Amino acid sequence: MRIEWSEGLSLDVDELDSQHQELFARFNELLKACDRGHGGDEAYRMLEFLNGYVVEHFSEEEALQHRFGYPAASRHKEEHDLFVRELTALELQFREQGPIPRLVATTNQIVAVWLIDHISRADAEFARFLSIVHR
Ligand SMILES: [Fe+2]
Repeated sequence: MRIEWSEGLSLDVDELDSQHQELFARFNELLKACDRGHGGDEAYRMLEFLNGYVVEHFSEEEALQHRFGYPAASRHKEEHDLFVRELTALELQFREQGPIPRLVATTNQIVAVWLIDHISRADAEFARFLSIVHR
């Protein structure tokens, strides 16, 4: 199941919006690779590619939160860290088992649900804070 970007997920912070869109694109590439079923290698590479971008994006978001003295920065970082640990575990399973349907379904569920929940709740809260201090 592809995930679609929609205006409802926009934070009105261009830099973060475009990074979130890139995350969605990479996630969809991963799903496509799983569908094509060219053995596990391609899917594994796409997952690695997604994970690399997630880590990069999170550290930029966290740096921005520190720069503006966001009071909920450490709670926000805990969410990021937990998600990175889950992705790392998935990456390991992919490496061992390849894109078997059960694993693809789990990955789909974890990543899509997490991204949409996190952006529309935690990131949106940060964006509201930014819009107040950054006027
Ligand atoms: Fe975030």
